[in-house]
Amino acid sequence: MSDFRVPTLTRRTFLASTAALLSAGAMLPLQSNARATGIREFRLRAGPGRAQIAPGPHGDTAVWCYDGSLPGPEIRIRQGERVRIAVENALGEETTVHWHGVRVPNAMDGVPHLTQAPIAPGETFTYEFDAVDAGTFWYHPHQRSFEQVGRGLYGRLIVEEADAVRVDRDETWVLSDWRLTKTAEMQDDFGNRHDMMHNGRVGNTVTVNGRVPDVFPVRKGERIRLRLINAANARIFGLDFGSHEPVIIALDGQPVEPHATEDGLVVLGPAMRADMILDMTANAGGRVSVIDRFYEGLEYRLVDLAYDDTPLREKAPDWPVVLPPNPLPEPDLAMAIRHEVTFNGGMMGAMVMQEMGGSMGEKGQDTPGAMGGMMGNMGGMMNMMHSGGIWFINGVAAEGHVMDPMLTLARDKSHVIAMTNATAWHHPIHLHGHSFRVISRNGKPTPHREWQDTVLMSPRERVEIALVADNPGDWMFHCHILEHHAAGMMGVFRVA
Ligand code: C2O
Ligand code: CU
Repeated sequence: MSDFRVPTLTRRTFLASTAALLSAGAMLPLQSNARATGIREFRLRAGPGRAQIAPGPHGDTAVWCYDGSLPGPEIRIRQGERVRIAVENALGEETTVHWHGVRVPNAMDGVPHLTQAPIAPGETFTYEFDAVDAGTFWYHPHQRSFEQVGRGLYGRLIVEEADAVRVDRDETWVLSDWRLTKTAEMQDDFGNRHDMMHNGRVGNTVTVNGRVPDVFPVRKGERIRLRLINAANARIFGLDFGSHEPVIIALDGQPVEPHATEDGLVVLGPAMRADMILDMTANAGGRVSVIDRFYEGLEYRLVDLAYDDTPLREKAPDWPVVLPPNPLPEPDLAMAIRHEVTFNGGMMGAMVMQEMGGSMGEKGQDTPGAMGGMMGNMGGMMNMMHSGGIWFINGVAAEGHVMDPMLTLARDKSHVIAMTNATAWHHPIHLHGHSFRVISRNGKPTPHREWQDTVLMSPRERVEIALVADNPGDWMFHCHILEHHAAGMMGVFRVA
């Protein structure tokens, strides 16, 4: 599976960037073989730890984390570099690490039983892959992730462009959400049926980089590249930066045509990332609150942007904000093979199926695929609802990571996946091993045709995505609300 081809990042550019790196010297790790091979080496140790999540006077909280830190250590490399990451398991249960959004060879994807044997307690597994795309990524376990991620196992993985946009500061906010007791202990009701059937484990304490933040110091005139990563199990964020006008330059690590946010909110479902250019345009000495407005009636202040008394400059700089493209193969929509995927289940699922089944029928859908078939078939629906499963993809609730592929995608061909969310809930849908273009929502073309690896679907929404299936292997396709994932909302796409 090491033959994952990257069309435009040639060996020559790879060697050139390696040479540049060698002459830079200081960025290399200390291991002597790193110099010889150009491989960047890291170690991560997953184990129990303690972290000051809630602000004082609360004490710290028992967590599971990497290297005793929350978030885990930042892995920061340059595009084209090869990384080797030895993961030691100091937990009391099996684990794996998935490099979310990174187009790795299948054997390095970190899916227990499907792509590797889980790492037993006390054992170490070494991952190795090339950073083909620059961007903002993250890593987390794929074994019982609803609990392992929920207790704090996650970290950021930043791949720098050779030619990055110019900014004054490059910052990352890893957003997370915890369900703590009144004494700041971790509430240990992970994976309960209520969370699984509704919107997942939404917590009561939101952190930025592992702490409840108070202020984020800034200076007037400063330009910040802010990388947002939603590492929460289930919480969706809709961030309002007040009088500031963030410009989105990348989504899920992939460059996008720079654009202002829709309705002024930066919306991020679990696992999703956004890179934005944030010009600090408010007054010196002032404060602007960043408010999370995603859930109506549950708005709260995330953090204050606290302006220094002395401006850095009077006006925002006019430096260009376009990122260089990554080497992604462009799907050919005219030639693409179409596939239908329908999500069902959850609380009120039967009602939505009935309602959408009816409206689908009236519109006389010409694609009698999974949707038409299942929607028209009340018997099938009743069977699903009585099978004990909670969430279904094309009528199947998954149990465990090993299953027959729900779709086989012909390798190196273009594919369109037409997805229907026939549920009353939001779902961030993630595909491993590839990025895809989001080409339409409810039949309307998307304005930016953004590349994503996780697409947030609203209740009853239809979304079409397109990709070239160029990375061979069995790849997970699942909802990234980790309680939905655990309760059946996953499948496997085989690229062969
Ligand atoms: Cu971020 Cu299958 O996962
Ligand atoms: Cu979901």
